[in-house]
Amino acid sequence: METATKSQLRQADPAAITEAAQLLRAGRLVAFPTETVYGLGADATNGRAVAGIFAAKRRPKFNPLIVHVFDRAQVKEYAVLNDTAERLARAFWPGALTLVLPRKGECALSELVSAGLETVAVRVPSHPVASQLLAASGVPIAAPSANESGGISATTAEHVRQSLDGKVDLILDGGASPLGLESTVIGFQGGAPVLLRTGAISRDDIETIAGPLSLPTSLALQAPGQLASHYAPRAPLRLNATSVAASEVLLAFGPDAPSGARSVLNLSPTCDLREAAANLFAMLHSIDACGLPIAVMRIPEQGLGEAINDRLRRAATPREAI
Ligand code: TXA
Ligand code: MG
Repeated sequence: METATKSQLRQADPAAITEAAQLLRAGRLVAFPTETVYGLGADATNGRAVAGIFAAKRRPKFNPLIVHVFDRAQVKEYAVLNDTAERLARAFWPGALTLVLPRKGECALSELVSAGLETVAVRVPSHPVASQLLAASGVPIAAPSANESGGISATTAEHVRQSLDGKVDLILDGGASPLGLESTVIGFQGGAPVLLRTGAISRDDIETIAGPLSLPTSLALQAPGQLASHYAPRAPLRLNATSVAASEVLLAFGPDAPSGARSVLNLSPTCDLREAAANLFAMLHSIDACGLPIAVMRIPEQGLGEAINDRLRRAATPREAI
């Protein structure tokens, strides 16, 4: 018998794609085939939906995600392409190339897809099901590979079910992913192209268009989200606050925030960890902008709380410590 804890698995026919698009627009998770591997997708403009990806994958850290879009024109709503990026985009999109680009100002994407970085990874997939889903939903789709964290990337709908059953609302079955290998990820350092992850498009093919690729020299690019404190706020940040000074800004969690702070932002007044994850980077950025010392209330170390605390601990590490 089907139970609420099982994921629906459907052939990716037009009716199923329409339903998947509706689910995405409603903030739900959908797994779908791409030419590289299957993706675990959510509306990239909806922070709560994106937080759901991390919860489903049980990822203990917030790694930045790839945002899938319908075409090159849509990329330009969210990111800025330099000349080399433009040439690569023309040569390889739609296809297995991911470009890490500066986010456009006033960008509608959730900050969680970038894990708080100033950049966003974007890709125009060529798989017809992915393409039809992007067209039908009308939203950019954030999607890591559709497997539990630490597992092997899923290349069939059955792999997705084995890894994520019950964690995703619908799995679209479009057969085996033809390439079976993740996309090649290219970033830029000082305008020059950098190979961030090898993948389905060979280095030689990329170099034909972009010229010689270098390897990342900055740790932050090699392992985004891994560095102890690569974008700690300018002002000191302390954790597990139970009271607050008049000189501090309070990053609160739950209904019982101590009073007396200069100002208060609440990650989730109802103790909803998904809401807290969705708000985390945007709130850290706006607090950072005012430059005052930050007190953060305790966040439970469970579910998404683990990744939230990982990020907050890094933010609390003084820059000199690395
Ligand atoms: O083929 C693929 O790329 C698949 C399909 C579903 O598109 N997706 C995939 O996503 O492999 P994921 O999350 O498993 O890997 C994304 C890679 C990671 O290595 C991540 O660190 C890097 O892209 N990445 C994403 N955003 C980044 C950013 N802003 N800066 C640097 N690296 C980034
Ligand atoms: Mg992966």
